[in-house]
Formats: sequence, structure tokens, C-alpha cells
Amino acid sequence: MANIHLENVTKHFGRVTALQSINLEIHHGEFFCVLGPPGAGKTTLLRLIVGLEKPDEGNIYIDGERVNEVHPRDRDIAMIFQNLALYPDKTVFDNIAFPLRERKMPPEQIRTKVTQVARTLHIEHLLERKPGKLSGGERQRVAIARALVRTPRAYLMDEPLANLDALLRLEMRIELKRLQEDLHETLVYVTSDQVEAMSMADRIAVIYKGVLQQCDTPDNVYNLPANRLVATIVGSPPMNFLACKVQRTNGQLNLVHSGFGFQVVGADHPLWDCLCRALPTVQEVLVGVRPEDIKLYPDQPTHLIAFPARVAVTEPLGAETIVDVQLGRDIIKVITPPTEYFSEKQDVWVAFDMAKVHVMDAQTGARIYTTGAPGQLQCMLPGVCT
Ligand SMILES: Nc1ncnc2c1ncn2[C@@H]1O[C@H](COP(=O)(O)OP(=O)(O)OP(=O)(O)O)[C@@H](O)[C@H]1O
Ligand SMILES: [Mg+2]
Repeated sequence: MANIHLENVTKHFGRVTALQSINLEIHHGEFFCVLGPPGAGKTTLLRLIVGLEKPDEGNIYIDGERVNEVHPRDRDIAMIFQNLALYPDKTVFDNIAFPLRERKMPPEQIRTKVTQVARTLHIEHLLERKPGKLSGGERQRVAIARALVRTPRAYLMDEPLANLDALLRLEMRIELKRLQEDLHETLVYVTSDQVEAMSMADRIAVIYKGVLQQCDTPDNVYNLPANRLVATIVGSPPMNFLACKVQRTNGQLNLVHSGFGFQVVGADHPLWDCLCRALPTVQEVLVGVRPEDIKLYPDQPTHLIAFPARVAVTEPLGAETIVDVQLGRDIIKVITPPTEYFSEKQDVWVAFDMAKVHVMDAQTGARIYTTGAPGQLQCMLPGVCT
């Protein structure tokens, strides 16, 4: 039962800034994911919340109480560490019972509690074994059981599934989600796996090089990424970015790439407004389109405007094929169904889903605009492009 609030939190290690002015509000009962590549500052964030590190600047509040000076033991938060750290010479039972013994719980109650948690995590049959005689997945469950056995104010988990094989990870993902829904406790879950974050989180905080890039629902992080970094971290393969020149001619606004062009239709168009406000500083924008929002045609389609391109490489993955396509001077990735076959060097036509085109500032990477409906941007015929 906890609400965790980070206010302007900065943490340095020598000359490294692990976290820079982080502001976050984690709600009670929320499955909150912290997503970022290695070295982003994710573990540091958890260590600050649990009290193993102190912020250099800023404040941390748990349920409204400032805890900067509060000892980890008194914060009452359970953390599952990245490297698991079970006691190798203790049995599974004793490992799970450890936090309760530390709190001097009577042995009978300990037995009941440990058995109950072990049942929830399907590890009852392992209670007498030592960690050395367990598989990776089983060890993982023991570590989770040890965190769950008492009822802390919040749970923090640091990449708990990172060392598991793909199938087990999938299984544990579903179990963890179910567990959190049953417990309805605050869970802060660190991962560098965007699929984990997207599939489990109520909200995701995307961190890169110690800076919070976006904190939002999985849906918004995916569909309305705050900037280029978020659009690259979330989604696989990541969003394609195409540098386009901003051209203003005769009261018209065009985005021109070496392989295609868009016309911003009408001065009442929101993108027009956004770009005009940014001009004259914005001479160039990045048009971002996800690989799944692009369609390839072997012949020029008649019902929509498409741009000529050429297949560079195909990567069949079974359920889908990723096709690298040369469009103008750029290579873009396109996800195609396996039923559509394209071969290398084949001439094709590329069409964007015009309801899902993002326009980013080329300098800062910040998202300027995202189309929400077809017709907001109009394609220009390839011949118009220069
Ligand atoms: N005790 C420390 N001393 C010096 N530098 C540290 C220390 N702990 C972390 N750092 C640095 O701070 C930055 C953030 O580290 P952190 O461990 O929080 O990243 P992370 O996102 O958890 O990465 P990973 O995904 O690899 O676990 C890194 O550049 C790291 O080298
Ligand atoms: Mg880490």
C-alpha cells in the first residue's frame, strides 16, 4: 500500500550522472515499469527508493512522508535484486523465511506464511532443496517468494526475468501480472525488455542516460512517443525515421524527402501551426513511421499514392517477414505478412498508413505532431519530390 513520489531527484557517481532531475509519481496498486537500455539508471532509481542510495538533490516521498534520511529497514519496501542473491547454504524454505525470522515472527506463523507463498508460486515441492539444485526459473520464483512473504508497502523488482530463457520468461510474465493483480500492491518493475514493459505495465517510465523521457500508459508510449528515443526504445523493429526538408512555397508547406513528399494541407492544419511556430528554426523534420504501418505493393496501387522503392534485404521470421527497402537515400524496415513474398532487388511501391505518421524535430528529436486520422497529411506524387 504505497504511493511513491520522486521530486527532482539527481544522483551522481563521481563524474557519472546516473539520474538527472527525475520527477515521478508512482500510484498505489500500480504495476509501474521502468524501461531503458543498459546503464540508463534503472537500478539506481530502485536503490534510491529502497534507501540503499541517497539522492544528491531532490526528495523521495513514500505515502507523503519524506524518506531521504529514513533507513532502508524502516521504509518497509521489498526489493528483488538484479543478481538474485539467494543464500546458497540455506534451503528454499529458510531463504523464503529469512525476512520473517528477521522480524521475529513466531515459527508456526512463519511455516504457514512460507507454505502459502510457495503454493502461490508453485514451488512447494522445492522447499527442502538448496538454491544450487534449482533451475534458473525456480531460483527466480524463490527470490520472488522471499519478497512476497511479508507484506511490505511496495515491491521493487530489478530485471527479475532477464536470465530466463524466452519460454519461461513468457510464462513468468503472465504469472507476475496475475500475482500483482491479486495482491493489488504497488510494484515497480525494472526492465530493458520493451515487450515486458508493454505487456505488463499500467504505466511505463522510459529512461535514457539518466533522463526521464516519458512516463505514460503503454498505449501512449507506443502511439504518441514523446521523442525519437522513446520511439526507438519501444517497438521492434524500431520506428523508421526519414529526414525531410521543410519547404514553404506559395503559402504551401511541404515535407520533402529524397524518396517521397508530404503536403501539409491547409493553413488550419495543426501541423502547419506547429511547424510555423517552430520556423524559421526548423528547416528539417524527421518523419517517423513504424514498420507495421507501412505497406509494400509489387505493382503501383491505383487506390492510393505510393512511392517507388527497391527491396534490399528480406528477413523471414515465420509469423512475419521484415523487409529492408531502399526509399530514396534511406533504408526503411517494413513488416510484411509471410503470405506476401518479396525478393531482393525487387522494385516495389511503398505506402504509409497516413493515420500513423509522426513528425519529429530533427534537432531535438521531440515529437511535433502525430496524425490521428487519414487525410491530415497528403502524399505528394513521387514526381513532385526533388
Ligand atoms: N556504485 C557506482 N559507482 C559508479 N558508477 C555507478 C555506480 N552505480 C551505477 N553507476 C553508473 O551509473 C549509471 C547507471 O547505472 P545503473 O546500474 O543504474 O543502470 P541500469 O539502467 O540499471 O543498467 P543495467 O540495465 O545494465 O542494469 C551507469 O553509467 C553506471 O556505470
Ligand atoms: Mg540495472
